[in-house]
Amino acid sequence: MADAATPDTTAETLAFPQGFRWGAATAAFQIEGSTSAGGRGESIWDVFTRTPGLVIDGSNAELAADSYRRYRDDVALLAGLDADDYRFSISWPRVQPGGTGPANEAGLAYYDRLVDELLTAGIAPVPTLYHWDLPQELEAAGGWLNRDTAYRLADYAGLVVDRLGDRVQRWITLNEPAMTTLQGYALGSQAPGHALMMGSLPTAHHQLLAHGLAVAAIRERGDAEVGITNNHTLMVPASDAPADQFAAGAFDLIYNRIFADPVLTGAYPDLSGFGLEAMPGLEDGDLELIGAPIDFYGINFYNPTLVAAPREGSEFAAAGLPFEPVEFENVPTTGFDWPIMPETFTELLVSFARDYGDRLPPVVITENGASFPDEVVGGAVTGAVHDERRIDYVDRHITAVRHAIDQGVDVRGYYLWSLTDNFEWAEGYTQRFGLVHVDFETGERTPKDSYAWYRDRIAASR
Ligand code: NOJ
Repeated sequence: MADAATPDTTAETLAFPQGFRWGAATAAFQIEGSTSAGGRGESIWDVFTRTPGLVIDGSNAELAADSYRRYRDDVALLAGLDADDYRFSISWPRVQPGGTGPANEAGLAYYDRLVDELLTAGIAPVPTLYHWDLPQELEAAGGWLNRDTAYRLADYAGLVVDRLGDRVQRWITLNEPAMTTLQGYALGSQAPGHALMMGSLPTAHHQLLAHGLAVAAIRERGDAEVGITNNHTLMVPASDAPADQFAAGAFDLIYNRIFADPVLTGAYPDLSGFGLEAMPGLEDGDLELIGAPIDFYGINFYNPTLVAAPREGSEFAAAGLPFEPVEFENVPTTGFDWPIMPETFTELLVSFARDYGDRLPPVVITENGASFPDEVVGGAVTGAVHDERRIDYVDRHITAVRHAIDQGVDVRGYYLWSLTDNFEWAEGYTQRFGLVHVDFETGERTPKDSYAWYRDRIAASR
């Protein structure tokens, strides 16, 4: 079998199982812009981006990729790829400006138009209900630390499904709840910017409860498929030393397993190693909701994580955590300095399928991709972007998925992050992940070499 590091290009290797679905992924706050159009309310990210010093380049998402106005261009780009699916997200503050109460018609109407445009182009809409843009009014009431936010999300989900459910066949409840807990509430590096360390754990439970309640709201309204998107990384111990092995297991538990286990097995892992008898916030009946069957399990994968026992005096040691992520040495990296190790993607998928066995529904890769400092040569419109490193990254990771399938993992789709360059959260506009370059002054789009490459790769897989 070919190694993921040296992609094999024979037709047999390029082929994917019949019905495998190809697509691209985006998120509302990162692409839409027009943040005050159509009665949209404020989200925690509007507030975060306004706070000096929090976004690396001081930027905001008022233009972003201008997709609120240019959504037809986005759909045409997807059609040019011959994509099966488009994973986008719905902005909660467009639909419910304050996070409660009746729907805002202009907000729903925008997604109506987008869904219709996609269907006309023969592309299936796969909306994510929540991709991090919590209405600010709900944050003022405690945000994800407040259990009530989970019920608010379910109400919002009901409004969206009532409107789009006649045309949407697949829903994703949440995007990467682990990142909201870790970056948003434990470290404070993303909105809403709280640095509570282990005090952030109730936000994990409340998001998972929101997932369970949203699944119930979708089931009540028809027979569409539903899943969740979790981000997973392969935890690689820094050495054979027992302390490093233990550290990798502990980080795996708090980063991967507390978000996967309750969804897939209906139970949280044993948290006694963290001095906890139970998951903070857990109430009777919650696990039945969270563990209700789903139709697919979304995995976002970018890179593995090297884990060591905490170094003396480090912030991890100071916080009493039994692990510390460390840098891989001599490994090529992306523009974000993320290690490029595609074979670990295969390993993650194979070990995940082994660990969860029959409880794991079909897997969809809901995000995978890489940022590089891409530049347009030759000017907009007629210009080109030669992003060989992205092509190489994506090629190797698609091959890694194929290797996992060959080893028995039931993967049904792959969505590349991202269709266009966009607002990369606290990194502002400094990390470009798109198949299509965006001029962040004008919104002008220039397909990169990777766009044509991905189109050809999809064709070769069929
Ligand atoms: C995962 C997140 O879902 C997405 O919003 C982000 O842009 C990518 N990772 C890249 O960091």
